[in-house]
Amino acid sequence: MSAALTDLARIDAVLGAAAERFDTPSYVYLTDLIEDRLADLQQAFGRWFALSYAVKSNPNPGLLDWLRERIDYLDISSGGEFTLAARAGWQAERISFTGPAKRRDELQAVIAADLGELVIESLREARLANEIAAASGRRQIVVVRLSPDRVPKGFGDHMAGRPSPFGIDIEEAPDALAEIAAMPHLRLAGLHIYSGTQSLKPAAICENWRIFMQIFRDTCAALDLRPEKLIFGSGLGIPYHPGDQALNLSEIAAEIGPELDAFRAEPRFADTRLVLELGRHLVGEAGFFVTRVISVKESRGSRIAICDGGLNANLAASGNFGMVLRRNYVMHRVGGDDGGARPEEKLDISGPLCTSIDKLGGAVLLPRVEEGDLIAIHSCGAYGPSASPVYFISHPLPREVLSLGGQLIDVTRIRGENA
Ligand SMILES: Cc1ncc(COP(=O)(O)O)c(C=O)c1O
Repeated sequence: MSAALTDLARIDAVLGAAAERFDTPSYVYLTDLIEDRLADLQQAFGRWFALSYAVKSNPNPGLLDWLRERIDYLDISSGGEFTLAARAGWQAERISFTGPAKRRDELQAVIAADLGELVIESLREARLANEIAAASGRRQIVVVRLSPDRVPKGFGDHMAGRPSPFGIDIEEAPDALAEIAAMPHLRLAGLHIYSGTQSLKPAAICENWRIFMQIFRDTCAALDLRPEKLIFGSGLGIPYHPGDQALNLSEIAAEIGPELDAFRAEPRFADTRLVLELGRHLVGEAGFFVTRVISVKESRGSRIAICDGGLNANLAASGNFGMVLRRNYVMHRVGGDDGGARPEEKLDISGPLCTSIDKLGGAVLLPRVEEGDLIAIHSCGAYGPSASPVYFISHPLPREVLSLGGQLIDVTRIRGENA
């Protein structure tokens, strides 16, 4: 964990000021923590990889704008994300487009805008893109997403290694790639694999990248392709729950580095740009979800803090975004124990909705919490508002605040009517 992340007094000053100025529930993104993470990534992997940020993890326009001069590429997964990126000033040539169900209108829009790379996920999509590019007299650059037949154990979500909507199954790849390579209005520039997310296990991450390298080697040899780009889906996770061990990037680099060096040294890859695609590992830990305690109830031996934002504003922290068993996120009371005035005790934390799944914490040990207090949930910078059912029960929509040095900027994206 970066030293800055452990400085809770400093973080609380920012969170308290943001809540005061912009109200709650709110997401506060601390850009200095993202800077630290970028520096760590650069230090560990910069000699092999350029970085590509997966917009789906946090599409906040203020954040996309801030990232524009700090990261090499963006990966978008919809026409809507393309619009957000373009509005934030990103040039189309620095953008790749993944997604298993791209529509004709989305393909038309990005091809007309000179998208950097279209990440082809099926033959259907390649044929459609070829047809659209032909109609406008263009030749679209593509990379093909492959779906490995194996994902090592240790990822939160396995997107390959079993029947999967994502990418072209490696078993089908020889015929499919030959057909794509021959399409006159597509130019095959490389390959892409994203097969597992949210791993906190260095050995699993390294093993997965080993699988990628072997697939890239074999596939490029079969096609006699000298790729311009090979995109590695990072799988780098973040700690969410008490006891989770944060990744040590230099440990991963030390383990896989010699193999990446050897891979790079192969003549076929002499001019290849390797790209590491990632979302949550870059922005997740820099974001805090701040919710205010509206009411405290003593109920049958339990103390329950009922807050102004719950599942509606933060689905992931309620355990309903792809978690099999709900586990508490790491959280703290803003202001800590008020200089010892508040002894720790266990309490449950719920949101404002009329459903028992609206729970943000069970038996959490915190300094005594009272009405009006702020609770900050950690690791909420990715898959936040845009991955939450914000209109459910029509409570106030979550605010988003960017903390830039000493400055707080309201970057709330979802500003629609809540009723
Ligand atoms: C194609 C692709 N790229 C990037 C990501 C980002 O994953 P993460 O936020 O875990 O880095 C995902 C996640 O599902 C993905 O499917």
